[in-house]
Amino acid sequence: MICIDNLSVNYGGVVALNSLTLNITEDVVGLIGPNGAGKTTMTNAFSGFAPIASGKIVIDDMNLLELPAYKRARWGLARSFQKVQIVNDLRVQDHLLAVIDAKGIDRKKRVWWIDKVLDFVGIADCRDTLGAELNSYRKRMTEIAKCLIGNPKVILLDEPGGGLSESEMQHLRSIISNTKTVFGAQIIMVDHDIDLIRDVCESTAVLDFGKLIAFGPTSEVLQDEAVKVAYLGR
Ligand SMILES: Nc1ncnc2c1ncn2[C@@H]1O[C@H](COP(=O)(O)OP(=O)(O)OP(=O)(O)O)[C@@H](O)[C@H]1O
Ligand SMILES: [Mg+2]
Repeated sequence: MICIDNLSVNYGGVVALNSLTLNITEDVVGLIGPNGAGKTTMTNAFSGFAPIASGKIVIDDMNLLELPAYKRARWGLARSFQKVQIVNDLRVQDHLLAVIDAKGIDRKKRVWWIDKVLDFVGIADCRDTLGAELNSYRKRMTEIAKCLIGNPKVILLDEPGGGLSESEMQHLRSIISNTKTVFGAQIIMVDHDIDLIRDVCESTAVLDFGKLIAFGPTSEVLQDEAVKVAYLGR
């Protein structure tokens, strides 16, 4: 279970997260809200890139915020970025090797991990492809493959569906839905695509101006009047 307790983040005078309290038990949870609502700020708070004003994020009886940012990946936190972080002159497998080294995974298991995550996301044929030669879908899949290395406890995906076609989205849906079974990780997913959120997230949290305005089963949350007004515009 992930317990977010009274979490606030301020950027100068901007309150990006305002006393957020949320307990997450589901395997896949959505995080939605209008532009600037604080979604990326929340993923940054988990990974150690946001100025925390107050609060805790407790997972497995440990306050993640007490762990230095550089130790969080090794502990079991993985994230993808809204803007993909792919290096043009590194091959796909080099991106994965960097994660394997950062997590201190046994060198003898390197090939096993690369095979496993590339097979899972369906881009085994891209192992030697340079970042610059990947299309946007394959960049997204490489980002997700990086997240899966080493069976993390929690994966945060920031707009994994951005810029994908409908058939690519279908593939993304099955990857997200199968992650818990194959890799054991809980997923918190930020996305603007309501169809994707509805299809894969058991529960969804809605932020507006840094405040939690709804949380619960996704179908109920999407019918909530306050959510419709804040996010869906009707
Ligand atoms: N590094 C930063 N410095 C100053 N202000 C920031 C910083 N990062 C975010 N903010 C502000 O915090 C608020 C929340 O931003 P955030 O990026 O978390 O929103 P978001 O919900 O991810 O939006 P989007 O859907 O556009 O990605 C915004 O007002 C934003 O301008
Ligand atoms: Mg964002």
